[in-house]
Amino acid sequence: MKGIILAGGTGSRLFPLTKVTNKHLLPVYNKPMIYYPLFAMKEAGITNIMIVSGIGHAGSFLELLGSGAQFGLKISYEVQEKAGGIAQALSLTEDFANNEKMVVILGDNIFEDSLADAVKDFRTQPRGAKIFLKSVKNPKSYGVAGLKDGKITEIVEKPQNPSSDLAVVGCYMYDPQVFDVIKGLSPSGRNELEITDVNNFYLEQGTLNHQVLNGFWGDCGESFDSLMESGKLIQKSRLANLDENLSIT
Ligand code: DAU
Repeated sequence: MKGIILAGGTGSRLFPLTKVTNKHLLPVYNKPMIYYPLFAMKEAGITNIMIVSGIGHAGSFLELLGSGAQFGLKISYEVQEKAGGIAQALSLTEDFANNEKMVVILGDNIFEDSLADAVKDFRTQPRGAKIFLKSVKNPKSYGVAGLKDGKITEIVEKPQNPSSDLAVVGCYMYDPQVFDVIKGLSPSGRNELEITDVNNFYLEQGTLNHQVLNGFWGDCGESFDSLMESGKLIQKSRLANLDENLSIT
């Protein structure tokens, strides 16, 4: 199974922190932001990883992470020329995925929970996708899943009137069909190819599984407060002991 970390986009919500550097290289407690999704992949046994970044800062990722050998990973890189949305960034990894299943993590997302069991389960899921939900105070800022009898009925991107407080977090597991799904998408109102549209495709197809996360989840890119809050949560968690080789000491 392949790993994909999406680290493109503009980081406009964190300006001016993102004026001369990429959002995913900013510090979150004692590590650069991108270390956390990389660790989540490594802990789940995913070692062949592609990072998609924007054109401006691609070199900085290479400088920071190199080949990945220091972390026991194999890291390759792809450039997203324009911020065309999460699904558009994912579409750039089709050759890398090479018809295998994949785990996609947004580069600004922090997971306290280990994803190892979920990855193990997804290896045995014959087809389709798996997403993760977390109860949040401000669902309007996220993709939100409506549930009935424990089953997802709809996913709405940044709804005005959320039907639940369950955010769809930035970790997605897909079969290789995802690239055909993306080819069929049209840009949204914000002129992006939306990952929520991808997830709704799998929902309609009846092959979308989900799991609710227990531990904390942080979207560091949502606001200055979420960036600071994520740092504080990391400080008090096992992730504070992540060393420079992506191991927990
Ligand atoms: O964090 C979870 C949320 O992420 C989900 O609940 C939403 O459904 C999903 O749309 C997304 O919402 P955001 O508005 O927070 O996405 P954002 O534009 O901040 O992008 C998140 C990451 O995706 C970002 O850190 C880098 C990557 N990205 C984003 C865009 C727009 C790219 O690689 N390329 C892009 O063009």
